Amino acid sequence: MKNSFLALLVCVFLFNVNVNADEGMWLPSLVGKLNIQKMSSLGCNLTAEQIYSINHSSLKDAVVALDHGSCTAEMISPDGLLLTNHHCGFGEIQAHSSVEHDYLRDGFWAMKREDELSNPGKIVTFLVRMEDVTDQVLKNVTGDMDDQTRSAKVHEATARIEKEAKGVNGYEVRVRSLFESNSYFLFVSQTFKDVRLVGTPPQSIGKFGGESDNWMWPRHTGDFSMFRVYCSPEGKPAEYSPQNVPYHPKHFLPISLNGVGKNDFTMVMGYPGTTTRYRTSNEVKYTMEVVNEVRIAARDAKLSIIKEYMASSQKARIQYASKFARSSNYYKYSIGQNKGLTALNVIGKKQAIEKDFLKWVNLTPGTTAKYGHVLDSINAAFTSRDEKIALEYTREALLRGAEIFGFAAKASSLNEVLKGSDNEKIKLAAADLRSSLDEYFKDYDSDTDQKIVGSLLKLYSQKVNQKYIPGFFGEIQSKYKGDFDAYSRKMFSKTIFADKGRMESFLNKPSGKVLEKDMAFVAMRSIYETISVISGDLRKTTSRLDKARRIFVAGLNEMNNDKSVYPDANSTMRLTYGIVDGYAPRDAMYYDYFTTLKGYTEKGIRGDVDFDYPQRLVDMYQAHDLGQYADKDGTLHTCFTSNNDITGGNSGSPVINGNGELVGIAFDGNWEAMSGDIAYEPELQKCINVDIRFVLWTIDKFAGAGHLVNEMKVIR
Ligand code: ARG
Repeated sequence: MKNSFLALLVCVFLFNVNVNADEGMWLPSLVGKLNIQKMSSLGCNLTAEQIYSINHSSLKDAVVALDHGSCTAEMISPDGLLLTNHHCGFGEIQAHSSVEHDYLRDGFWAMKREDELSNPGKIVTFLVRMEDVTDQVLKNVTGDMDDQTRSAKVHEATARIEKEAKGVNGYEVRVRSLFESNSYFLFVSQTFKDVRLVGTPPQSIGKFGGESDNWMWPRHTGDFSMFRVYCSPEGKPAEYSPQNVPYHPKHFLPISLNGVGKNDFTMVMGYPGTTTRYRTSNEVKYTMEVVNEVRIAARDAKLSIIKEYMASSQKARIQYASKFARSSNYYKYSIGQNKGLTALNVIGKKQAIEKDFLKWVNLTPGTTAKYGHVLDSINAAFTSRDEKIALEYTREALLRGAEIFGFAAKASSLNEVLKGSDNEKIKLAAADLRSSLDEYFKDYDSDTDQKIVGSLLKLYSQKVNQKYIPGFFGEIQSKYKGDFDAYSRKMFSKTIFADKGRMESFLNKPSGKVLEKDMAFVAMRSIYETISVISGDLRKTTSRLDKARRIFVAGLNEMNNDKSVYPDANSTMRLTYGIVDGYAPRDAMYYDYFTTLKGYTEKGIRGDVDFDYPQRLVDMYQAHDLGQYADKDGTLHTCFTSNNDITGGNSGSPVINGNGELVGIAFDGNWEAMSGDIAYEPELQKCINVDIRFVLWTIDKFAGAGHLVNEMKVIR
């Protein structure tokens, strides 16, 4: 299995006959070998070198990972302007918002550079280069090695390669595994840390349709926000400083106002987070019945409590906007994924693949020896479920359910130093905790959190096997007669962690005694003890899973050597190409590939949480005030669909036409193919994009920030 990744793919390419143009998240450095011919045939006029080059500037230099790849963004001006989704800047827009400056409701535009708002912690990462290092990583690995030795060898080689690549430029280097650790790539990158908010439309544009429309088509959302990357006067990454200057990127994307038509070529470059397309039927079943079910149950409870609070005042709505959006996004995703997996019979399709695999495995003694038991080994890891259900519930209902336990955990290191007598250390730990108070309590409502604790502890006690119930639940039974709300009320009336004033007094005179008997702190520690029990049991059932997955994927690739293969997404840069097209969501229905401002006005509902609209937008629509942004059909196109293969992390990715020009920003996937992260659906799966002309119209005409458009290179 020391098959180098490239050799494998090149051989794949030679036999490459039946690739779906649209499926696949390809590594940009291999596009020249694997994809460019197909891309040309679909209407791409670029060379592979124009897309990815280590010697010249290329498209990849304009595409960045935002916040470690939780989103993607693109450079669109020589002066560091950065475009991404509204939902990717949402946390910052929310954080800058207050009842006095409600940027969520009203939008925000910096009319001069000095007005741009800094965002500590927001980062963008440029890819410098990537390189196949499979042969080097596996140099000392042999087929008969046990897994521990293999891991040690891989680790050793990886560390050496990273050290050698580090060089003098201060770049970050990281070796990442692909194809379940059958291949390895080195990624060299550079991260900038002064990223300022330049502008955002109001939520009624940037998040139009809200949770009702999320994960759906047709869509009318102007899902964009704009930042600017700053660097030191020497052009190097630097923390925020007033002395910093706008960064001049190696490449920025020109913007086409010509729009896209049906069947036009599009490509999307970005940072897809996770797909699991090589998983087996049993693993899919597990995802449905454990991961998704737990997430749905826990977030259902939590979101309804938050929703009620958010409806109570403007302050409440601003406080919980970002928390709500974050939690509800993958709540709805899980519901849709389960529906899609069932409707599209993904388990059946996976079983068919496994049947073919076994048939192929049994053809020769060689393949039987290598792969004969691999499916059994994977299945063995999924027979017992109690510990996995418990693990998912500790995440969803305890650690990430309410906030108080996570917040209490932050006091753990202070508690440790309080056991000693080093006053300096105590002071430092207390100061560290104190520095987080303003930000934390600005967006915290203790009554809401108290209700969430009551509701989720109860859910946990009902759903999780007795042996994984944390010790403090015993007290809820004995002292509170199993009344979780009563217990929670008591906790919140006593704990220091639910109140800023109490935290401040505590930190002025920190005491281990207070912590050790604080109800939230005690519960938090009990939760962590349970987690370590669960992890121990989990290791017993899944210890050989990684190895089995690696061997299975190696086998699948060997079996399919006449088909093109691409590695699962893992937050490394990928390119996906395809065409603009609509789709048939159901029998007798066809969805067109674009929406218009007319459709926006038809959907608008005055005062609605999801469909409220600015009167100004409707007035401009009625006056046909579209400027240079109208399509040749005379309307303003708002969003469009293409069949590019994207997933979470791709949000904010540039949609690029055949000339390397920006035509849209990818922002979502569609309801009918929510199973797409597990199995690509060629007929149904779409990438939902905001039309760049809607973006520029909003900036220039709607918001009056035309100076920003003047910075861009606009092509007509
Ligand atoms: N589903 C989108 C994604 O995961 C996020 C859309 C945000 N918009 C919203 N209405 N919640 O990328």
